[in-house]
Amino acid sequence: MDSLLIHGGNTLAGEVRISGAKNAALPILTASLLTAGPLQLSNVPQLKDISTMLALLGHMGVTVTPGEKNCVTLCGENIPHKEAPYEMVKTMRASILVLGPTLARFGEARVSLPGGCAIGSRPVDLHIKGLQAMGAEIRIEHGYIHAKAKRLKGAHIAMDVVTVTGTENLMMAAALADGTTVLANAAREPEVVDLANCLIAMGAKIEGAGSGVVTIHGVPELHGAAHRIMPDRIETGTFLVAAAMTGGKIRALDAAPETLVSVMGKLADAGAHVTQGDHWIEVESDGVLNAVDVRTAPHPAFPTDMQAQFMALNCVASGAASVTETIFENRFMHVQELRRLGANIEVSGHTALVRGVPRLDGAIVMATDLRASACLVLAGLVAAGETTIERIYHLDRGYERIEEKLTQLGARIKRVH
Ligand code: UD1
Repeated sequence: MDSLLIHGGNTLAGEVRISGAKNAALPILTASLLTAGPLQLSNVPQLKDISTMLALLGHMGVTVTPGEKNCVTLCGENIPHKEAPYEMVKTMRASILVLGPTLARFGEARVSLPGGCAIGSRPVDLHIKGLQAMGAEIRIEHGYIHAKAKRLKGAHIAMDVVTVTGTENLMMAAALADGTTVLANAAREPEVVDLANCLIAMGAKIEGAGSGVVTIHGVPELHGAAHRIMPDRIETGTFLVAAAMTGGKIRALDAAPETLVSVMGKLADAGAHVTQGDHWIEVESDGVLNAVDVRTAPHPAFPTDMQAQFMALNCVASGAASVTETIFENRFMHVQELRRLGANIEVSGHTALVRGVPRLDGAIVMATDLRASACLVLAGLVAAGETTIERIYHLDRGYERIEEKLTQLGARIKRVH
């Protein structure tokens, strides 16, 4: 198993190119199941989660043709296996995204129920309820969701909780349903908008994506299209926090500033100098930071996927701040590991009180999930001496060539096999 070895203390400076968004690419790849026509995608990040999704789609029967650098063409003309097996779903929960499109186009789908995961129980009940409201007959058998519907029907669906992949699954299903579907309390995340834009390019009729109410007028069929995946806002945010923590200056290129308003605001509150242009964001800092309170909530509020990185920032800032997680019940596993580096953090329920310390000291730590891994990398970049991060396969699920990008910015980081 690979580890990352980081020698802390270097100031990071320079430009970094942001990759395509993992969380936009995953649902958009599954949109290939909605049409027999080719879906040409560009700016697809090369990540473990993406290869897992491509393997799942390939298993189902989608033809996957890799193009030049970060391009891929998918053709879902024949889908002999309308099933996502346990072995694949258990490695990546986002596999649930094949349910809506497969059911909508073929009238049948079988998807393994995702189990619990490191950051909480993460049920998929709202995906199921939404499809049932659209007329699907759903049985849970032998750990699988078995869904059938001759043709889904448009419905008014009010979701109890804001769910990102739930909104995406239902939006894709509704695109081929008979009649109009209204999704109320829909997720407003930019990745939902990116998926909607791709679906619209494929011939779907969707209004309101990015707002809390999305209206989808079903059409009998969709066609192939070309789409460029939006920039990854979480990767961007992670590099910006690295600039702030190391007292450096990083310009994130090919970024989407409009998707990072709350994160940029928090960095400015922490004392960093944040500037932006059409497709770039720059953060400059002298490394003297104030601790900032953070409370995660659905977009456009502060993203849960940036919570761990701001926890790392607060560890070395002056003063104390609270970090409150409202989306996932068990997303503080990085706290134990940060403590091993000398951080002062107390957890009470969903809130962590972080008191800044003058310095962190390198140690061996273990990555427990994707964003927790990013937080440990950030902490390692400022810790005195050497930090070894074990189990970095989590990091490879969501950050493209992270050690290469950090090295270019001046970090001393290497992968050890
Ligand atoms: C997506 C993102 C993930 C991000 C999360 C929250 C992808 C591939 N992953 O995950 O990186 O951290 O959004 O921004 O896009 N819930 C239910 N029932 C459901 C579905 C969700 O109760 O049927 C709850 C969850 O347990 C959680 C909350 O809703 O408490 C939000 O989860 P959700 O938005 O669905 O997360 P994902 O879409 O899995």
